[in-house]
Amino acid sequence: MSLKIAIDGPAGAGKSTIAKGLAKKLNAIYVDTGAMYRAIGLYVLRNGIDKNDEVAVVEAVSTINVSIVFEDGQQVVLLNGENVNGFIRTEEVGMMASGISGYAKVREKMVNLQRELAESTDVVMDGRDIGTVVLPNANPKIYLTASARVRAERRAAELEAKGEPADIDTIEKDIIDRDYADMHRAVSPLMKAEDAVEIDSSYMTIEEVQQAIIDLCK
Ligand code: DC
Repeated sequence: MSLKIAIDGPAGAGKSTIAKGLAKKLNAIYVDTGAMYRAIGLYVLRNGIDKNDEVAVVEAVSTINVSIVFEDGQQVVLLNGENVNGFIRTEEVGMMASGISGYAKVREKMVNLQRELAESTDVVMDGRDIGTVVLPNANPKIYLTASARVRAERRAAELEAKGEPADIDTIEKDIIDRDYADMHRAVSPLMKAEDAVEIDSSYMTIEEVQQAIIDLCK
């Protein structure tokens, strides 16, 4: 039996940091599904497509190719063959990804790709619908949360470390707006799977969260 760990939760709860380290410890691959939606968000942004125009977005998505390769254990997202890892981490692309991720046709394409990636290997996958839709048989399933304020503080610290300006109140507002959009869309909204274990990481270290998940694997 291969290991499938699903980690879902709102933006900035620490999913990717936790999942990446966990995958390393468990010798599994880490799949960041948000990066795939971000690649599409980037395409929409670069091509001036209105994210609210479902027909135009779905049409565009049907013609583009998003794929994932692993280089030295790191996930690289290819958009029509171009490595876009360096372009997808901005707030602007995140908001765009959140917008286009509500369309069923977009999700269908991404979910198929995610399932293929998980098929033949041990995997730690993070996103919004991994435990509920993508890998319903994953075990354990984690729903990772943290307060909006703590998440905004973490994001601000990340930006400051890169020498970029960061206003915590603005970031917190963006986080709350994105949570609302992700939790209230019609298709595969962010929610805790019935059999998921909720972990609030607000006052836990990365190590503590990882250990809690490893304990659940036993
Ligand atoms: O995890 P992230 O911030 O990189 O994700 C960007 C957006 O993509 C997020 O706001 C919602 C969407 N997303 C999704 O709908 N389903 C996923 N499995 C992962 C991300």
